[in-house]
Amino acid sequence: MAGRLEGKVAIITGAARGQGADEARAFVAEGAKVVLTDVLPEVHSVAAELGDAAVALDHDVTDEAQWGVVVKTALDRFGKLDVLVNNAGIFRPGTMLETTKEQFVAHTNVNQLGVFLGMKAAAPAMIANGSGSIVNIGSGAGQRGYPGIFAYLASKWAVTGMTKAVARELAPHKIRVNSVHPGLIATPMIAGPNDQAALAELAATVPLGRTGITADVVEVVIHLASDKSSYSTGSEFTMDGGTGL
Ligand SMILES: NC(=O)c1ccc[n+]([C@@H]2O[C@H](COP(=O)([O-])OP(=O)(O)OC[C@H]3O[C@@H](n4cnc5c(N)ncnc54)[C@H](O)[C@@H]3O)[C@@H](O)[C@H]2O)c1
Repeated sequence: MAGRLEGKVAIITGAARGQGADEARAFVAEGAKVVLTDVLPEVHSVAAELGDAAVALDHDVTDEAQWGVVVKTALDRFGKLDVLVNNAGIFRPGTMLETTKEQFVAHTNVNQLGVFLGMKAAAPAMIANGSGSIVNIGSGAGQRGYPGIFAYLASKWAVTGMTKAVARELAPHKIRVNSVHPGLIATPMIAGPNDQAALAELAATVPLGRTGITADVVEVVIHLASDKSSYSTGSEFTMDGGTGL
């Protein structure tokens, strides 16, 4: 049976670990070719697992020139660009009063500027292709006013807004732009291998009684990358176990 992403070419940022690495694995399993990027060198071992269908690049999403290389690599290596998953992100908690200017700017740079630069770099290749799907990984923190994560929340609300604006702008080119809003997902971002007790405590705050796993997000990202979601653009797709209710 053909995979759900057969023939698609995708860029996935933040693919060294966590959700991005699992998205890359699932995309290849569904028939896609993938350019994986990250600031962490582990991105090369994830791509090596995936064989000829994958290539890894050292890439800081805040660097506009590096974005040019990423898109050129997709075109040179795989011939076109169908999908961009803006997944890279950073998370450092703190209330508004605790947040330093440096902490705020760091979130703005990676989580907001990085998403803008990615969309700007990828759109011309998608316009040339006559179609495309951009999936911006936001957060439940881009839909509600959760306390104690001020800089992160501000940057993720920007992702929600940019997604809607760009969905409007790129719709005439048949490029869809949607945002994905995970709740608490067990990745290195919120818990290391020794943080099982902390994860259990977090799980108790979730209406469905558990923290999420990467597969909870990956399934929705595959749907948005595929043609099965062809009537969705500018929309928010949430998987948070009911936390935002
Ligand atoms: N884990 C959660 O609970 C959760 C909840 C909501 C949203 N998210 C979002 O999901 C996305 C993936 O996060 P994750 O949970 O897999 O966390 P993670 O920390 O495991 O993965 C994030 C990846 O982004 C990379 N990255 C950071 N700064 C970068 C930069 N400047 N350039 C390129 N890559 C960079 C990191 O190296 C890392 O590999 C993020 O956008 C995050 O904000 C996560």
